[in-house]
Amino acid sequence: MALKMYMATLVLATLLLLQGCSYQAMSRSLQEESMITRHELWMAQQGRSYKNVEEKAMRFDIFKNNVEYIDSVNNAGTRSYKLSVNKFADLTNKEFRATRNGYKQAPFPRSCKATFMYENVSAIPSSMDWRSKGAVTPIKDQGQCGCCWAFSAVAATEGINQLSTGKLVSLSEQELVDCDTSGEDQGCGGGLMDDAFNFIAKNHGLTTESNYPYQGVDATCNKKKESNDAATITGCEDVPENSESGLLKAVANQPISVAIDASGQDFQFYSSGIFTGSCGTELDHGVTAVGYGTAEDGTKYWLVKNSWGTTWGEKGYIRMQRDVTAQEGLCGIAMEASYPTATKC
Ligand SMILES: *[C@@H]1O[C@H](CO)[C@@H](O)[C@H](O)[C@H]1NC(C)=O
Repeated sequence: MALKMYMATLVLATLLLLQGCSYQAMSRSLQEESMITRHELWMAQQGRSYKNVEEKAMRFDIFKNNVEYIDSVNNAGTRSYKLSVNKFADLTNKEFRATRNGYKQAPFPRSCKATFMYENVSAIPSSMDWRSKGAVTPIKDQGQCGCCWAFSAVAATEGINQLSTGKLVSLSEQELVDCDTSGEDQGCGGGLMDDAFNFIAKNHGLTTESNYPYQGVDATCNKKKESNDAATITGCEDVPENSESGLLKAVANQPISVAIDASGQDFQFYSSGIFTGSCGTELDHGVTAVGYGTAEDGTKYWLVKNSWGTTWGEKGYIRMQRDVTAQEGLCGIAMEASYPTATKC
């Protein structure tokens, strides 16, 4: 009797399995289960935890959407870059943009000098990497504070300081976040590199990272730390707008602050290769062009230092396509570039 019932159940189960829909339902739940496992592993790897089950379920859905997108792009293999399930994988694109960027709309005319000291430069090396010249500090991480503008301005200032003094000194973003209220600059609320350069020039310099360490939140200006200047600049100049050839002359001579449109999902999850977009030209992020070159397949690129830690992109850097058809450059990289000036030795 028992055997008969067992056999009947087995037949029924087999019949159900053979029906396409139940098979699909089963593979769907298997996929769901493996996604849950991926989320758990990712959480452990990132040290991420959630308040309660509701938040976890909500974050899981976002994670799942992002992972499916990342997998589809990578599996298609049609782009010259790869995406990865990085630390931003449980954030919607909107959440990501709200806290990791922070480049504001620049006034017109802009606030650095319109003279361009590299205008007549003719000797331009075929490639440049300011890291190998000792003019670039290690990758930093702005965290959940919209002060990309401070990181970009500091990286360019660290560069010109090394070129003029021979010493590479890591400088303070927090001093800018706390003390610089010039122009559009509002700490984690966003700002402009041009305004930061003008502040540094007027303020007689910037102190070191170690003296005034990064906190990632707005705080009261520490006047005592602020007054301990470690690097000075004489002012700043804006690279002529919408000219990648002008930007090239500038980057050939020093690390340059550039504003880009970093709002896209592909930028959020960029992992390696030459980034070719898609992106618009609504500038929302400040970064630093620290070199340029040409890939093996002939694609020209800008070497760009970001401030999202070393786990994003190529150890914190992105190579962005150079010499594109649009005069604004890819993601608007040639639209609002600028740099600090100093008396070079
Ligand atoms: C570049 O050359 C032109 C023509 O000789 C000159 O007028 C201009 O001042 C030069 N620019 C710079 C920045 O030296």
